[in-house]
Amino acid sequence: MTESNIHTTNDWAAIALAAGSGSRMSSKLPKVLHQIAGIPIICHVLDALDQVDINKVILVTNPENNNILSEIKPEIPCVIQNTPLGTGNAVSVAYEIVGSFKNTIIINGDLPLITKETIQNLMKQHSDSNNTITLASTIIDNPQGYGRLKKENETVTEIVEQSELSEENEKLSEVNVGIYAVKTEWLNDALASLKPHDNGEYFFTDIIDIATRQKIAIHTYELNDPNEAVQVNNRIELANAEQIMQNNIREQIMLNGTTMVDPRSTFIDKNVVIGQDTILEPGVHLSGNTEIGFGCHIGPNANIVNTKIGDNVKIGASTIEMSVIGNNVSIGPYCHLREGSKIADEVNLGNYVEIKHSTIGRHTKIGHFTYIGDSIVGELVNIGAGTITANFDGKEKHQTVIEDGSFIGVNSVLIAPVRVGRKSKTGAGTIVTKDVPPESLVVGAPGRIRSGKGE
Ligand code: UD1
Ligand code: CA
Repeated sequence: MTESNIHTTNDWAAIALAAGSGSRMSSKLPKVLHQIAGIPIICHVLDALDQVDINKVILVTNPENNNILSEIKPEIPCVIQNTPLGTGNAVSVAYEIVGSFKNTIIINGDLPLITKETIQNLMKQHSDSNNTITLASTIIDNPQGYGRLKKENETVTEIVEQSELSEENEKLSEVNVGIYAVKTEWLNDALASLKPHDNGEYFFTDIIDIATRQKIAIHTYELNDPNEAVQVNNRIELANAEQIMQNNIREQIMLNGTTMVDPRSTFIDKNVVIGQDTILEPGVHLSGNTEIGFGCHIGPNANIVNTKIGDNVKIGASTIEMSVIGNNVSIGPYCHLREGSKIADEVNLGNYVEIKHSTIGRHTKIGHFTYIGDSIVGELVNIGAGTITANFDGKEKHQTVIEDGSFIGVNSVLIAPVRVGRKSKTGAGTIVTKDVPPESLVVGAPGRIRSGKGE
């Protein structure tokens, strides 16, 4: 182990900035809470920090987003910047908490593509060279909106902000990414020396000026991938960041063994997990904490949200939300599985089947035009076309139970609460208003027992 790898417990703190007003988003939602690949922007930054050897992470929030952020990331302490007086002021608000750490990472909260490797590399370069300040930089084609680096002899002498850019500085193409490693002790004095700009804001980037005047050399860590510098100030940049993130996720998923027929029309959230040899057809959206097993065939055109799917499942164009699906299941096209649907192995759900908050047992078939709500359906049940569980009496929801081996005739209506006993049958068009004993036949409207144990 090299010396730089040995961290004492008080080596590193990090301050993530998330208190800006985000006015360029034109949104009621705080900027850092807008989502990229299903996760708030700030959580991408905090997740990257979490994977690095940093002893304490602090989030600077504002009075509007503090409660939401403390709820999403309860493990991370927040300090509130009451007025958005600029990035320099935001760091000052948090300084006291990091004061005892040797070095501090300062990171803007609107950098969703930053990776743990970049933060790690920046920290390593900073420690190894015993710098006072090391800042991440990159060269990009369109540096609009970024602070530009002025350099002399490989040392940064100034960061010129977009708002204060002269024509001559327009040509500078190396930009400030918005992540800095700084010796904490030095930072304290530098923050005290910051002066407000014409717009009343204290720019954190002015610490470069202060260091230059003290003849401190400032080095850059150049990003391996300029895309990591993509920031989100407005919704055009939000869409751009989403596109880059989607490309990264798609590539990773394909390398892990999933076939994607048309990657550009396939959208996958960051936390989605997919097993080997699963095929995603065009128009598939997989979001939230969705997990898909091995050898599945999904789409075209399927929208799957927070759902766990087993192996060898076939899903045609369908919407599936907050459900659990076993192995060897066939669904759709045109099914809607709503929250709390639990589908056991070998089930077959055909077109236009809606299921909500219900359990469907093994080998059961629900072929066409059916609504199953608040129900328990057993194994080896056959449910005919047009069957409806009437679960709502205008005030409350009630349960329907259909036991193993039952056969529900087409267009049956099951008025809940009601139970159809095992191996019973309902005739076509039956309106079942009372419990049906096992091994019985019920027909008519209202349904009458015609044969079997209930006769
Ligand atoms: C900042 C940098 C710029 C850099 C760019 C790229 C400054 C002065 N400029 O500009 O050099 O190229 O990021 O990432 O730092 N924030 C607060 N409190 C505030 C203001 C901002 O917490 O009072 C937070 C924001 O929520 C955001 C981060 O700081 O997460 C950066 O602020 P933002 O307004 O996006 O700075 P830029 O103008 O993009
Ligand atoms: Ca920004």
